[in-house]
Amino acid sequence: MGNIFKKLGVGLVVGGVLVGVARSQEVPFDFQLLFLIISLIGAVLFMLLDAPSIGAMSGGKSLVAVAVFWVLLITVCFAGASLLPQFDPEDERAKITKLLEREREKSEQGKTEKLLALAKSLDEQVKKLEDRLKGVGGEAIAVVAPAPSAGGKPAAASAGGEGDIMKVGEEQWQLQECYNCHKLRGEGGKKRGPELDNIGSLLTVEEIQQKIADPKSFMAEGYDKEYAKGIMPNKFKDLMDPKEMLALATWLGSFKNTSVNTPKPIKKS
Ligand code: HEC
Repeated sequence: MGNIFKKLGVGLVVGGVLVGVARSQEVPFDFQLLFLIISLIGAVLFMLLDAPSIGAMSGGKSLVAVAVFWVLLITVCFAGASLLPQFDPEDERAKITKLLEREREKSEQGKTEKLLALAKSLDEQVKKLEDRLKGVGGEAIAVVAPAPSAGGKPAAASAGGEGDIMKVGEEQWQLQECYNCHKLRGEGGKKRGPELDNIGSLLTVEEIQQKIADPKSFMAEGYDKEYAKGIMPNKFKDLMDPKEMLALATWLGSFKNTSVNTPKPIKKS
């Protein structure tokens, strides 16, 4: 009897150590329980070793005894195993899929809302621009247009619509988010583009237009790395119509603040 308790004790200690290790490794609780049960089964097996032996059998009797032993053993194994906590990968996968789906739905909803808001604000800006353009009219722009090629300077107060062109230009600056990369009037330029307050002294309106339409046509001096990486996006000619781009270039061309160190543009092929 004392032996049985000793072996039970050993089984419990071994089981306790296993569970402790499993816990420290953050093994799931089901497996911790499994370790404990396995060490207890081990203890029981050792106890059985001490059991008194059965008397010798022969003939049909021994055959039946072996068969009964196996049926018993198999039943205990299967029943025991099915009583233990089960790990079903399909189950786990279903749980994970469910969780992921909820997350995805959340983020997709968020994205849609953001896009809708963006579309709405863009729509408003377009409407505003359309109204402005109606005010400016194609003619006014035509009057200003030749000026850059002629003198390289924005048309000075020649056309009645010039103020409006400036407004359209400034609006394009906001709309195209040039300020994300370029500081102007002390604002913006978080993403490492040159400050543009003196660009009017360095580039003609036509050249500014060229830089916007094809950012690879000029390089701001000292910005080799950014130029090589193509940081300034090559997309504006698709986002603006020629009138808008001209307005933007005209507006930028009017910035001639020589106290700001706008880098010299150099041609790079
Ligand atoms: C994602 C950042 C980014 C955006 C947005 C961006 N630029 Fe640039 N831009 C740069 C960088 C970087 C340079 C310097 C390297 C180079 O010349 O390509 C540059 C150079 C320029 C230059 C030449 C400056 C000089 O001193 O030579 C002009 C002019 C210019 N950008 C105008 C614009 C206008 C107008 C817009 C909006 C339609 C705009 N950029 C939008 C990054 C940007």
